Amino acid sequence: MKILVATTNPGKMEELSMLLGDSTGGIEWVSLRNFSRIPEVVEDGNTFAENARKKALSYAKASGLWTLADDSGLIIDALNGQPGVLSARFAADEYPGTDRKTLDKANYQKVLRMLKDVPDSQRTARFICHLCLADEKQILLEATGTVEGVIIDQPRGKNGFGYDPIFYIPLLNKTAAQMENHAKNRISHRGNAIRKLKPLLDALLVSQR
Ligand code: IMP
Repeated sequence: MKILVATTNPGKMEELSMLLGDSTGGIEWVSLRNFSRIPEVVEDGNTFAENARKKALSYAKASGLWTLADDSGLIIDALNGQPGVLSARFAADEYPGTDRKTLDKANYQKVLRMLKDVPDSQRTARFICHLCLADEKQILLEATGTVEGVIIDQPRGKNGFGYDPIFYIPLLNKTAAQMENHAKNRISHRGNAIRKLKPLLDALLVSQR
C-alpha cells in the first residue's frame, strides 16, 4: 500500500521513510511532491498536535491515501513556551519574504536577544515533534518525541538547520549544529517520535491483513 508523507522536503521524507521502513512488507512511501495539485494546508493550530492532526486528515482526504504528518518546533521555558508553533516564522515580521536560511538565523538571533538577561540555569528548552497518521475519516496513530537542551548565548556549529546552532545538549557537550546528521537522528525529537510510532504502525498494518 502507498502511505503519503505530508512533506515536500526531500530530507524529511528520506529520514521518515528510512526510519519507519517497511518491516511488514508492501509499503511504498510517497511524498507531496507526487501530488502537486493538492493545495497546501495552513498550519494555524495552537499546538504541534493540532497542526499534525489537521495536516494528516486534510492530506488524507485530498489524496485518498493514509497520510503521515508531523509538526515540530522549539519550546523555551523562560519564554513561556515560545517560539512553539511559531518556530519556523518567529522573526518573519522583521524579515518579510526572506529565504529560509536568513529567516532561520533571524529566528535564533531573536531568541538570543529575548534571553539576553536570563541566567544559564533558566535557559532550559526542548524540541518537540508530534507525528500523526490518518486516513480520510480519522486519526489512526499518534506519537510525540522530545529532546532536552539549553539555549546557549552564542551560535556554535555549522550543521543542521533552524535553532540547531543555539541548542546545546549537555549530555553530549555539543550543540545540535555540531552533530553529524546520523548522530542527531539517534537523539532527536523527530527520531524519538518515529521510534515510538514504528511498533504501532507495524501492529496496525498486520491487523489490516
Ligand atoms: P517543521 O515542523 O519541520 O516545519 O519545523 C518547524 C520549525 O521548528 C523549523 O522551521 C525550525 O525552526 C524548528 N525546528 C524543528 N525541528 C528542528 C531541529 O531539529 N533543529 C532546529 N530547528 C528545528
